[in-house]
Amino acid sequence: MAEGRFITFEGGEGAGKSTQVRLLEQDLRAAGCTVVVTREPGGSFGAEAIRALLVSGEVNRWDPWTEALLHSAARRDHLLRTVWPALEKGAWVLCDRFLDSTMAYQGYGHGLDPRGIEQLVCLVMGSFRPHLTLILDLPVEEGLRRAAGRGGGEDRYERMGLDFHRRLRQGFLEIARLEDRRCVVVDATRPADAVQAEVARLVRLRLGQPS
Ligand code: TMP
Repeated sequence: MAEGRFITFEGGEGAGKSTQVRLLEQDLRAAGCTVVVTREPGGSFGAEAIRALLVSGEVNRWDPWTEALLHSAARRDHLLRTVWPALEKGAWVLCDRFLDSTMAYQGYGHGLDPRGIEQLVCLVMGSFRPHLTLILDLPVEEGLRRAAGRGGGEDRYERMGLDFHRRLRQGFLEIARLEDRRCVVVDATRPADAVQAEVARLVRLRLGQPS
């Protein structure tokens, strides 16, 4: 894959990922970079259609493996249609959630065997991984409170219960520990501009001066 950079933002509900993606986009554009902002589930025509099936409706509408397969199908389409072509052109691709959300939500949250999830990941993208993953961390109660304030109908995961959300927070922290060359935990309890400054610092530290 050519020159581009692939940065993913992860974390529980209400962690401020979308805000931080937008702020980093502004920083990178100001530095003269070509930037593509995208998200999962979604980010391509087909994957957005699958997203609608995943984020709304009854909490139990999918069994956990079906849910993991839907996220994986969406991801494959997103990679083929959006992420890989942009990276080949040398863009900085900023993605709101990616593979670690599957391990955290479907693995740690729903209790699926992590080896099965790793097999799905391998099927979808081989050894391709983000250059940098920023895991925005904050207490579950605070995140859910912030997320509830957003409104809208995309709240299927928000309704999954406190224990589920506690498991996935621990999951993200464990992923960061296991994959510390790729992942960094960022304290997301602070004001957005303080988080933004740390994100910018980490991007420079890990990936060099944007150009
Ligand atoms: P969003 O709220 O960050 O836009 O993401 C939609 C929901 O999808 C969010 O609650 C987390 C969930 N999700 C998974 O459960 N597994 C995945 O692999 C991804 C990418 C997201």
